[in-house]
Amino acid sequence: MKIHKKILSVDFDYFDQAEMYSQMPKNIKAVLGDKSSPKRMLSLLGWQLLAENLPDSRMLSGVEFGDKGKPFIPNSNIWFNISNTRGIVVLAIHNQPVGIDVERLRKPREVLYKRVFCSEEINSICSPEDFTNLWTRKEAVVKLFGGGISMGLNSFSVIHDEVKAFGKQIKIEPVLIDGFFSHTAVYL
Ligand SMILES: CC(C)(COP(=O)(O)OP(=O)(O)OC[C@H]1O[C@@H](n2cnc3c(N)ncnc32)[C@H](O)[C@@H]1OP(=O)(O)O)[C@@H](O)C(=O)NCCC(=O)NCCS
Repeated sequence: MKIHKKILSVDFDYFDQAEMYSQMPKNIKAVLGDKSSPKRMLSLLGWQLLAENLPDSRMLSGVEFGDKGKPFIPNSNIWFNISNTRGIVVLAIHNQPVGIDVERLRKPREVLYKRVFCSEEINSICSPEDFTNLWTRKEAVVKLFGGGISMGLNSFSVIHDEVKAFGKQIKIEPVLIDGFFSHTAVYL
């Protein structure tokens, strides 16, 4: 697996998008929408990072989306997943399905706890770092499956590096990036 990242400076201009947007193929423009926003800049940077790291940047125009929005390249053995948060975009490229998540330190929120974490996970949280770590571990698994919150996220635990979820064995690995929390997930 290859991990690529773009770290953005504090004075990065999130609105300087026109040229990048104009270079995107139709399928990508369709999901980006035509309204400029910082979130859209992060998306643009993700697609740009993908284009730069595919064997041929024109493959971007072949990207399709699963029913919950997971992007993929049909009929190829290249799998990828992108994640972003303010200040960073990360991309995992692999020869099998992959999920990746990146976050800044997040404050634990109890409402979220119950919805997404099982009791083993909840009991392991002693700090915002623990919470954010666990969050990115679970989110990487969610993104591997290509699903959303409706999957029943508190039905499995991501405490260990090898986990079983929805009948599949999954391996979770950390991605070390200063100032951020990030994990990938792949099927074993
Ligand atoms: C996409 C989703 C899976 C993650 O959203 P997110 O955390 O805001 O986003 P990330 O930055 O990690 O990833 C976004 C990227 O993943 C990709 N993506 C979109 N839908 C996806 C899906 N269903 N599965 C996997 N990847 C997806 C896209 O490349 C997307 O980029 P874009 O937003 O620039 O278009 C979101 O739809 C979702 O359902 N999140 C669940 C949130 C939650 O409560 N998680 C609990 C985890 S503990």
